[in-house]
Amino acid sequence: MEIVRRESVVKQYDRIEELSDLDQSLLALAREAMENAYAPYSRFIVGCALRLQNGVIVKGNNQENMAYPSGLCAERVAIFYAGANYPGVPVIEMAITAKALDYEVKGPIMSCGACLQSLSEYEVKFNQPIRTLLQGQDGPIWIAEAGTKTFLPFQFYVGELKR
Ligand code: THU
Repeated sequence: MEIVRRESVVKQYDRIEELSDLDQSLLALAREAMENAYAPYSRFIVGCALRLQNGVIVKGNNQENMAYPSGLCAERVAIFYAGANYPGVPVIEMAITAKALDYEVKGPIMSCGACLQSLSEYEVKFNQPIRTLLQGQDGPIWIAEAGTKTFLPFQFYVGELKR
C-alpha cells in the first residue's frame, strides 16, 4: 500500500491592489457579470469572467429556475458559451466572485464539483490550465495558477472514452 497525494496550491492576496491591472480588471468584469445573475431562490449571486487566448472576454452568471435543478452555475454558463461560440479558442484564465443578498460572503468561494469537471474538460481539450482568480465580497483573493486540478485533484478523466 502507498499513499497517493496530490498537492493543491493557491496564492493568497490580502488586498486587491497587490494584483496586476489585468487581474484586477478580470475580477471587475466578474463582479459586473454577477450583478446580472438571476438567483431569486438562493439570493446568492455569482459572476464569472473568462479570458480567451484571442483576447475575448466571456462573462457568465448563475441562472436559476423554479424547477431548481434546471438552473445553472455562473461558471458553466460562461464556459459553455465560450465552447459554443469560440470552439477552437483556449480559455486562459477565469475570475469568479460571489455575493449573498442576505449576508456577507467572507473570502473566496470555490466552484462546485460539477463546474470543476466541466471546466476541466476544456483544459484537457486545449492542454491549457485555466488560471483561476477567486474573490468573495470581503477577505482575501485566491489565485490558482494550476487551474481546476487545484480544487478537483482527482478529477474524472479517461483518455479512451472519446473513441
Ligand atoms: N453557484 C454558482 O453559480 N457557482 C458556484 O460555483 C457555486 C454555486 C450558484 C448556483 C446557485 O444558483 C447559487 O449559486 C446557490 O448555490
